[in-house]
Amino acid sequence: MQESQKTYLWWQTGVVYQIYPRSFQDSNSDGVGDLRGIIQRLDYLQWLGIDAVWLSPIYPSPMADYGYDISDYRGVHPLFGSETDFDELLQAVHGRGMKLILDLVPNHTSDQHPWFLESRSSRDNPKRDWYIWCDPLPDGSVPNNWLSVFGGPAWEWDETTQQYYYHAFLKEQPDLNWRNPEVQQAMLDVMRFWLDKGVDGFRVDVMWHMIKDEQFRDNPVNPDYQAHMATYEQLLPVYSTDQPEVHTIVRQMRSVLDSYDERMMIGEIYLPIQKLVTYYGIDGKGAHLPFNFQLLSLPWDARQIASAIDQYEGALPPNGWPNWVLGNHDQPRITSRVGMQQARVAAMLLLTLRGTPTIYYGDEICMRDVPIPFEEVQDPQGLNMPDKNLSRDPARTPMQWDGSPNAGFTDVKPWLRLAANYSRENVAVQRDNDLSMLTLYRRLIDLRRNEPALQVGTYTPVYSDMNLVAFKREAEGHDSFLIVLNLSHRPGYFRPQHFPFTGTVAIATYPESEGVSVSDTLNLSGDEGVIIRLQ
Ligand code: NOJ
Repeated sequence: MQESQKTYLWWQTGVVYQIYPRSFQDSNSDGVGDLRGIIQRLDYLQWLGIDAVWLSPIYPSPMADYGYDISDYRGVHPLFGSETDFDELLQAVHGRGMKLILDLVPNHTSDQHPWFLESRSSRDNPKRDWYIWCDPLPDGSVPNNWLSVFGGPAWEWDETTQQYYYHAFLKEQPDLNWRNPEVQQAMLDVMRFWLDKGVDGFRVDVMWHMIKDEQFRDNPVNPDYQAHMATYEQLLPVYSTDQPEVHTIVRQMRSVLDSYDERMMIGEIYLPIQKLVTYYGIDGKGAHLPFNFQLLSLPWDARQIASAIDQYEGALPPNGWPNWVLGNHDQPRITSRVGMQQARVAAMLLLTLRGTPTIYYGDEICMRDVPIPFEEVQDPQGLNMPDKNLSRDPARTPMQWDGSPNAGFTDVKPWLRLAANYSRENVAVQRDNDLSMLTLYRRLIDLRRNEPALQVGTYTPVYSDMNLVAFKREAEGHDSFLIVLNLSHRPGYFRPQHFPFTGTVAIATYPESEGVSVSDTLNLSGDEGVIIRLQ
């Protein structure tokens, strides 16, 4: 069957937008974003052309890791609003024809979660085995060499019960024992709770961490470790992550989703391509979209990126749907990594590649990493490794809506300082500017939505000059497109030897090129990207 005649689901054709709820819109003047604030901004997302909204965690939490330490999986943190606010948000999202994806954090709970409080209360508590408890070695030291992602050992001593518990992240985030069937059932019930309410899917936190080696073997030393890296990277997490048994768990989660209509699951997985694609599961019964983070982690180099795209396309299992990401709340922002001009090229890449794009809030207005003074750092990753500049706060600053005090985000002091340039770079200013990043994003999304070749068509790489990435998108019976992107600041020449083409530039990162007829060769400015509608 031709690509364009197949039926595609919303999570394949749509554009996903990640909201970090603390930083999107404050509605109750406490300096922290909330659910009612998000409701107020849904018209904006609809105007932008977004199809699905993913919310980072909104559940009750002591906020040791800003919501990724959950103390109640079925509630809403009062900072963000009430359960009624949530129901209203869900209704409002659906009312606009959009979908809502929640963050699910099944790997660990807060140390304040009643399950953990019970588990740590005594060795014979029925929930003892819900977490990962181990005896000390004979000399009293930690059970093995596993490290916490946020610095230091991954084992915390419990004085009362005289055992260590395992935490891949903070000690306030004990890992659940997913080998325990009761834990599995409890978390699948959490999924059902939100699915019954009508939530359209989940982004599953650290999916590849969920099961650890049954024998707790020591992780091997990373021979490529360098001092500037996070201490966690001293070891290769061979035994603490990506265990074969994780796929059974993912499959169980998938069956829950499959018992509802058209729900979906994104997996947060930082692994090389060959391992990443195994998370689609046997017969495609794993995650619908194992997050593909290559554009986040590779150097911004045309050859490396072009070959990674091809490698990924080639590694996808039959019917495995691709996806692409430029930013999230854990990574430096794309504009800060590649610069303003290249960020436009990156946006064009994200929205023309085959597969579901996820946009991180604020990237569509070129928000940059904001320097947060040392004494204002909030992120535990930054606080725990102060010498390594690893705080994630710079990429989590409040959304810049307009030029009014506090950028229209709040009318009091925001929880995290705003970018100094917010009066120049904001939604209100960019909305009315034909040349802005926001206008570019909106036009790219619009073109993608209206052109089957871009939305669901095939991808074919086209050989090109060293600094260019070029590919063709086609769907039977519809216009085809050639995308040529210059990933460098210097002029680039597109002279493919065996690829004659004629067409018209539909969208370019520089407006002068738009509407121009082109054939067979292209001379691109530095930082220029073009989408050519082929004849
Ligand atoms: C991944 C999340 O994206 C990150 O923000 C969090 O700190 C860790 N998981 C721990 O939950």
